Amino acid sequence: MLPGGGSRRYLQTMPASSNTIRRLGPADVPFLRKLNALFGEAFGDKETYTGAPPDDAYLKALLTKQHVIAVVALAGDEVLGGLVAYELDKFERVRREVYIYDLAVGARHRRRHIATALLKHLCGIAARRGAWVVYVQADHRDDPAIALYGKLGTRKEVLHFDMAVEPLSKRIDAATGAGHG
Ligand SMILES: CC(C)(COP(=O)(O)OP(=O)(O)OC[C@H]1O[C@@H](n2cnc3c(N)ncnc32)[C@H](O)[C@@H]1OP(=O)(O)O)[C@@H](O)C(=O)NCCC(=O)NCCS
Repeated sequence: MLPGGGSRRYLQTMPASSNTIRRLGPADVPFLRKLNALFGEAFGDKETYTGAPPDDAYLKALLTKQHVIAVVALAGDEVLGGLVAYELDKFERVRREVYIYDLAVGARHRRRHIATALLKHLCGIAARRGAWVVYVQADHRDDPAIALYGKLGTRKEVLHFDMAVEPLSKRIDAATGAGHG
């Protein structure tokens, strides 16, 4: 059984009584697919989120992992919004941190405190898992996200760097002088 199962604690911020906020488990692959579609729409990047969908076995295995946390807001079968976060086991002390990787709410459902409810639900899961902090990054131009996170957390300015990873086959070719054609 995964931690952080369904909770209705924060639903008072969401008007429709049928709405629920809950963590996805291994049986929830269809909801994870809907969440990916919502992310693709919200971030304007359908190719990344729906261009090469993993098979059911991959997604089911992902949702079984304790350290992978997907939380959604549902109205029946509709995914109104959701987030994906990762639990990080630390090395300097026996403790954990939770990093929010993606968060979005469908355009029609914004400003109903759904994101707030998702984040509070995640913080509840984090507390039960012994995490001491939950953190997230935002782009400078993403004013709604900055306003949202500013209400809930303390802002810190950081610089972010991406380092490209060359596919292994290319590195082996370079090392051996071999080529593909
Ligand atoms: C950012 C986002 C998740 C917010 O979702 P949401 O459900 O509308 O947020 P909430 O209703 O919980 O907002 C809580 C508070 O955040 C602030 N806020 C949220 N959206 C805002 C906006 N567009 N403008 C100004 N303040 C905003 C407000 O203070 C709001 O409280 P209020 O409505 O009582 O004034 C949503 O706009 C979204 O999905 N955007 C596209 C994807 C994205 O940018 N994700 C974040 C990636 S880091």
